[in-house]
Parts: sequence; structure tokens; C-alpha cells
Amino acid sequence: MAILTTRPRGTNDFLPAETPRWQYVERTLLSTAALYGYGEIRTPTFEHTELFLRGVGDTTDVVNKEMYTFTDKGDRSVTLRPEGTAGICRAAIENGLLGDALPLKVSYVFNCFRYEKAQRGRYRQFHQFGVECYGATGPVTDAEVISLAWEGMQTLGLKDLTLAVNSIGCPTCRAEYHKALRAYFERRREELCETCRERLEKNPMRILDCKSPVCGEIAKGAPRVLDYLCGDCRDHFEKVQTLLKDADIPFTIDAGIVRGLDYYTRTVFEISVPGFPALCGGGRYGGLSRQLGGPDVEGIGFAMGLERLIMVMEQQGCDFPEPQQCDLYIASMGEAAAEEAFRLTTQLRREGYAVQCDLMGRSVKAQMKYANKIGALYSMVLGDSELQSGSAQLKQMATGTAKPISLAHFLPEFETEMQNGWFAAAAEAAEKIDR
Ligand code: HAM
Repeated sequence: MAILTTRPRGTNDFLPAETPRWQYVERTLLSTAALYGYGEIRTPTFEHTELFLRGVGDTTDVVNKEMYTFTDKGDRSVTLRPEGTAGICRAAIENGLLGDALPLKVSYVFNCFRYEKAQRGRYRQFHQFGVECYGATGPVTDAEVISLAWEGMQTLGLKDLTLAVNSIGCPTCRAEYHKALRAYFERRREELCETCRERLEKNPMRILDCKSPVCGEIAKGAPRVLDYLCGDCRDHFEKVQTLLKDADIPFTIDAGIVRGLDYYTRTVFEISVPGFPALCGGGRYGGLSRQLGGPDVEGIGFAMGLERLIMVMEQQGCDFPEPQQCDLYIASMGEAAAEEAFRLTTQLRREGYAVQCDLMGRSVKAQMKYANKIGALYSMVLGDSELQSGSAQLKQMATGTAKPISLAHFLPEFETEMQNGWFAAAAEAAEKIDR
């Protein structure tokens, strides 16, 4: 295999033709989060391995099977982040943000790494948009965070979204639930996969999201966590549901959602479209900060997989804004004209226009072919005669019409043309289509 020209399995290159879509999605989600009071946070791509063992949990698949862990030159074990929540909680503790005015609300967009079986929608390097809110314990926060995920996805124009919510209780009710789960799975111990037999002792809830079909089938008959909630957790969950109904956010209760990471307590949720793995997952986590040695502050958040989100948006034909076009291509013939083209190009870019000139020393014909290819709105050819007369022909590429333009007064004349000419032509074209 040509290793030098082949990217590692499960990773993607994002080419200039695609990145405007990514920028649009990231911008839209970050600004929806800003409406809710979230400011962006950026944390390191790698953290001490111990953080994920403690934070995400050493009985989870993410930690057990999927981490990119290595020893650095200083003999420390570090891990490429498999998710964002643990690193952000670490950063909030380390920077003293959990003692400040709460709630603390942070949003993020970054890459994550999981050594998974690479397939469509499942990658080894993928990107998440997410939020974390610390310090607010009441159900209205759960509803607000779910609403943020929901509204962000609505703003992007995603259709057929389903929101499934569940509560997995607090440590008090979890103790009872674990007992019931152990009793249930113990009876079928021999049928469980080897990993689940280990999970039976350490963390029986993890059996519920085992990917083996046999364990999955057995898990279907397992006791439901909702039947074991303590009074406080039940009240909390009921209130979350009332608030979601009041906000007209449709949801179903799905007792099967237990999430694959250990830090969750009480509300958990996922947002999906039919026939596709979850687009968004999240929930409340009561003990993470304490677990990491920080103050006793609860958090709640979610993360969306951006590859999946954009893939579904494309499948559903969602609108993406047009990428920035080239306003003007200045073709040139000869050295003096090339210098003038470069001077004008620089001047126009300073005024905010997207302008290009030849960098390849090509013929005018080849330059114009290129101008067409990049979709330039206008073009102009400069040669010795244009330089001598001080005037050139500005051509509107869509209509092929051209008009003289003064090189000495290029900027104001071009500005007027862009405002009147181009938009007038575009409006006329739109009118024709309407008719
Ligand atoms: P998660 O469910 O593990 O939660 O991941 C969130 C989202 O990331 C998934 O719904 C999916 O869209 C995307 N995702 C996960 N793994 C992959 C992959 N291998 N390839 C492509 N996309 C993937 C978390 O990571 C939690 N930290 C979310 C959270 C934040 N909970 C509270 N706060």
C-alpha cells in the first residue's frame, strides 16, 4: 500500500469544496449555543490517560477498547481525547471556573479519537459539537440543554428527528437497580459474552449496551431502570418531561438508553433520524467533578457527531449557503499588465472583494477558462493597449455583456457595477425564472 499517500483508516480529509459546509454548521451551532449563554472552550487534543480511566470509566468500551493511548518521550501515558466532557471538566476545575459565578456554560467543536471498526458514519477521528453546563441541578437545566440540541438541529433544517429521553437515576437508586440487574443476568451468566461476565461484577448496566447480539437479546428482558428510580429522581424526570412538553419539543421515553459512558446520572437523551446511528447524545453527570478531585458541582451536556450530522443534512437535501464566490478575475498579457493586475487585485482585496489574478503565466485563453471554472462573477483582461488607454472591458460572466471601465477610477466604478449591475442582472434573471 502506498502508505505515504493513503490516510489512516477511519480518518477523513476535508477538501476546500466541503469545508464551507462544515464552517456553516459549526457557526450555526456555536451561535445557537451563544443565544443560550454558552461561550466556546478549547482544550488539549490529548490528556493524561488517567483522566479518561477515572472520568469516562474503566468498564466502558470507549476506555477498554477504543482509546488511542501512547507513552510520550517523558514516559507519561497520554491519550487522544475519545470525547470532550472529561477534558472540559478537568479544565473547568484546573482554571477555577467551578468556583466562579455558576452556572458555567461552555460550548466546543473539536476532533475526537476512538479506535472503532471504521464504517459509514463511524470514524476513528471524528468531530463533535457539544456543550457542558455546570452548577445547575434543577430539571429546567435539563430541559434547556435538550432544547439547545433540538433547536440547533432544527435551525440546520434537519428533518424526521426523534428525541428519546430516559433517567438512569442517582447512586442511591442505582444501587437497588444494580442488585436487580445482577440477579437477572446471573441467571443467564453462561450465555453472556466474556466481557459482559466481567461487567456483571463491576458494572452490570454496561451489559445493556453490549454490541453482541446474544447479550442484546438477553438485555431486552432485563429490569428497567425507570422502575427503580427514587422519589427525587422520579420527580426530577417528570418535571423534565413537563418542561419539554411546554416547550413543544416532541419526545419519547426510551428505557433502553443507558449511554456508553459511566459518568451519567439522572437524565440521559439521544437524538436520531431513522436508519442511522445516533446524531446526538448527552445527559446529566452528578459525580464527575468530585471524581476528578474537583468541587461537588454537577454538570449536564451533550455532543453531536458532525460527520453524521452533515451526512444526514446532505441526504435530506438541507440548504447550505453558497460558498464565497470570486467577484473578479483579472487576466493579463505581458509583464507590465501582470504587475498592474497584481496591484489592482491587492487594492480590491483590501476593500473586501474576492479577486484573483494569474499565478501560472498562462495564456489569456487559459486564464479565462480558469475564471469560468472558479465561477468568477466578473472578468477583465489587461494588456499593453489597456494600460496605454487607461481603460479596460469589464465583463459580466453570466451574461457575457461587457462595458468599459477606467483603470484610474477602477474601485468606485467597480463598486457601482457590483451594486447595480450584478444585482440588477441577478434580479432580472430571478424575475425571468418566476415568469
Ligand atoms: P457519545 O454518545 O459517545 O457522547 O458521542 C456523541 C456523538 O458523537 C454521537 O451521538 C455520535 O454522533 C458522535 N460519535 C461518537 N463516536 C463516533 C465515531 N466513532 N464516529 C463518528 N461519530 C461519532 C459523548 O461523547 C459525550 N461526551 C456527550 C456528552 C457531553 N455528555 C454530556 N456532555
